[in-house]
Amino acid sequence: METQPKEKSSPHVLIFPCPAQGHVNSMLKLAELLAIQNIYITFLNTKYIHNRLIQFNDDIQALLECYPKLQFKTISDFHSEEKHPGFGERIGDVITSLSLYGKPLLKDIIVSEKISCIILDGIFGDLATDLAAEFGIQLIHFRTISSCCFWAYFCVPKLLECNELPIRGDEDMDRIITNIPGMENILRCRDLPSFCRENKKDHIRLDDVALRTKQSLKANAFILNTFEDLEASVLSQIRIHFPKLYTIGPLHHLLNTTKKSSFPSSFFSKSNFFKVDRTCMAWLDSQPLKSVIYVSFGSTTPMKREEIIEIWHGLLNSKKQFLWVIRPNMVQEKGLLSELEEGTRKEKGLIVGWVPQEEVLSHKAIGAFLTHNGWNSTLESVVCGVPMICWPYFADQQINSRFVSDVWKLGLDMKDVCDRKVVENMVNDVMVNRKEEFVRSAMDIAKLASKSVSPGGSSYNNFQDLIQYIRSTSP
Ligand code: UDX
Repeated sequence: METQPKEKSSPHVLIFPCPAQGHVNSMLKLAELLAIQNIYITFLNTKYIHNRLIQFNDDIQALLECYPKLQFKTISDFHSEEKHPGFGERIGDVITSLSLYGKPLLKDIIVSEKISCIILDGIFGDLATDLAAEFGIQLIHFRTISSCCFWAYFCVPKLLECNELPIRGDEDMDRIITNIPGMENILRCRDLPSFCRENKKDHIRLDDVALRTKQSLKANAFILNTFEDLEASVLSQIRIHFPKLYTIGPLHHLLNTTKKSSFPSSFFSKSNFFKVDRTCMAWLDSQPLKSVIYVSFGSTTPMKREEIIEIWHGLLNSKKQFLWVIRPNMVQEKGLLSELEEGTRKEKGLIVGWVPQEEVLSHKAIGAFLTHNGWNSTLESVVCGVPMICWPYFADQQINSRFVSDVWKLGLDMKDVCDRKVVENMVNDVMVNRKEEFVRSAMDIAKLASKSVSPGGSSYNNFQDLIQYIRSTSP
């Protein structure tokens, strides 16, 4: 996997994502974009993640051949294969061990590869701050979440100070949050990140998130995967604290647009952590225009039996065709999956383990997306002009779903409810009763997304500025 030694004067960027699907996806797209610009890239994965990429993406070698200046390196995450926490809910354990023990390994890579700039997943907080200072190189933080969510994380200390946090039980969930500048009166307590809740489902600590978010202030520059027309009012608040902010999203769209002219045959990149089942593409080809609801809750969301059953009945009762991704690790109960598959076949839906999601969302048969609102999924839906039904699970997803439904008017938010009648009604509202209204907003925002990544658009220009910045600051 090693590439040629680099020429002396060209920048060499180390990119290090959090070892989780949504993070690797978006940061690898950035790596490709920089490699297209002739910048040397070392893309660093934990061994665990690297093995998954090799196992489930048979074209990884082709990717490296496409970009001779891109190489992969691996780093230990200090967990044994047998007791590995994976990349789901317990990802915090991996982040903690890398933060505690990873610095000497990073240092070795900076030295051996003659790194001139680090693009670090901001979720790692302070991990590379001292190293960048020691070697006199630039440190850029990249957050893979939405700007509205990043800004809410940033404002957590203020919310605690103003007594808007903590949330005081279930009866407090509809209280309106007023102290996040730029998004006053948009969020209710239930729209705040999941770990602000008393009975949170995850293991993430609020003080830890607040601390790591603030640590991005020490980076020399900051990247967000969003575009100006989507999150303008929040971005103007973030810029007060992060003046060197590059908004270059939707990154997958910028990359696909760039690649279409250079590599037309393979413009969707792949970094799957699961085996892709492409049979759904032929199935979609046989479905009428905008008739199918695509259902996927991303790479991490666990589901209880009752939740799966409620969603399934809701989909069946809606009488719409559906394509549902049920990951191999999602259903623990033996027999349940085959029961669902059997029942679904009869009703003419399709359940698969993992799909090429970007391709699915851009298929003409897709009419709506029932999603957990991970930021990548949300942006992918925005780009394709597909209206959404939101069922957020954790972290940033609660805020994203609020913005999708109440700010961008791209669909409906099921938040905190998982009931077959609600699913049925929302599917019919989004795909039939209020279809025109949602499709109109979705197409309007999709046009803005395309404009942003086209020559002269905000993300296109910001990306050019980012390249200029990386080149001009390389020692
Ligand atoms: C989580 C967060 O919620 C997200 O906001 C953060 O930026 C990263 O971590 P995740 O649960 O993985 O992410 O969701 P999401 O951000 O939507 O990323 C999932 C990715 O997997 C998407 O790019 C999607 O296209 C891809 N995917 C999903 C597939 O390729 N196939 C599938 O079947 C399902």
